[in-house]
Amino acid sequence: MKVKKILAMGIFLCTCVYLLGACGKEQPAETEKLYLGVACYNQSDTFLGELIDSLKKQVNDIGGDRFETTLALRDAVGSQRTQDDQVKELIDAGCNVLCVNLVERADPSEIIDLARENDVPIIFFNREPVPEDLMQWDKLYYVGADAKQSGKMQGELTADVIQADSQIDRNGDGKIQYVVLEGEQGHQDAIIRTENAVNTLKSKGIVLEKLSYRIANWNRAQAQNQMEQIFSQYSNKIELVLANNDDMALGAIDAYEKSNLTKSAFPVFVGIDGTDVGLQAVADGKLAGTVYNDKEGQAEAMAKLAAVLVSGEGMDKIKFENDKYIYLPYRKIVK
Ligand code: BGC
Ligand code: CA
Repeated sequence: MKVKKILAMGIFLCTCVYLLGACGKEQPAETEKLYLGVACYNQSDTFLGELIDSLKKQVNDIGGDRFETTLALRDAVGSQRTQDDQVKELIDAGCNVLCVNLVERADPSEIIDLARENDVPIIFFNREPVPEDLMQWDKLYYVGADAKQSGKMQGELTADVIQADSQIDRNGDGKIQYVVLEGEQGHQDAIIRTENAVNTLKSKGIVLEKLSYRIANWNRAQAQNQMEQIFSQYSNKIELVLANNDDMALGAIDAYEKSNLTKSAFPVFVGIDGTDVGLQAVADGKLAGTVYNDKEGQAEAMAKLAAVLVSGEGMDKIKFENDKYIYLPYRKIVK
C-alpha cells in the first residue's frame, strides 16, 4: 500500500516537473502537409526522367521543419486517357498540389475540370498548354523554358563551330548540307527550335542546304532508325545534323558509329538538353555542342511554387511572366 502511494506521488511530481518545463519552451509551429501528385507523360523520356529525379530531391529539401512532404508519381506511358485517370486517383488520394506533364498538351480540359472541382492547383511543366487553357482557372501555372531561346542558342553555337573549321564543308561547295531530327509533332519545342536554329545560322552568314527532315519523337532509337534510312540516299553527303534534343543527336551518332563510314566522313552533331549522356558526349567530342535545359532550375521552381500554393504565403516573391508562367533560361554548352 505504502509503496503504491509513494509510486503515485512520484509519478505526480514527475508530471508536474515535465509540464513546468514544457511551459517555458516555445511550441514548434505546426507542420503543414505538402502532398504533391506528379503526372508524367512518359518516364522513359531521358530528359523527363532526370527532371523528375531532380524534383524529388527539391521537394524533399523544401520540406525541412515547415512541411511534411509526400510525392506520388504516375507515368502515363504516352496515353492521355491513362493520365486523366491517374490525375483523378491522385486527387482522390488527397494530393493538395498537382504537377502535370501533359501527354497531349492541347488536351488538358478534363484534368483542369477535375482539379477545379476539387480546388487542387496545377503546375503544368515541360509540355506547355495553350494560353486559352491556362486561362480556364486562376490556379493554373506553367514552369518550363522558352523554346525560341533554345533554337537561337543552338544556331549560334553551331555557327561558331562551322566558322571555326572550314573542313566541315567537306565537299567545299560553300554550303552546309544538313538534316534535321525533329521532336514530337505539336510539341512547343519541336518546330520552334528548328525554325530558330536554322534562321539564326542563316543570319550568321551560313549558307544551308536541307537534305532531309525526319520526326523521331525525342527518341534515341527512332533517331538511329531514321538516320539509317537517310544513309541509303545521302550516305556521306551530310555535313550537319541538327537535332531538337540530345537523345536524337545521340541516336544519329549511333547510326554513324554502326555504319562503315570513317570518322572523317561524320557530320557535326548538335543537340539540346544537356542530359547526363548528352554532356558526356560533348566532353567526349562526339557532340559539337548542346543547349542546357535547366531541369534543376525547373524542379526548384516547381517545388517552391507548390510550397507557396499550400501555405498561401510568399506568392509575391515569385517572379511570374503574365501571372502564370515561370521560364528558366537556357545556356550554351560546348567542350
Ligand atoms: C526536351 C526533350 C523531351 C521533351 C519531352 C523537351 O523540352 O528537350 O528532350 O523529350 O521536352 O516533352
Ligand atoms: Ca558542303
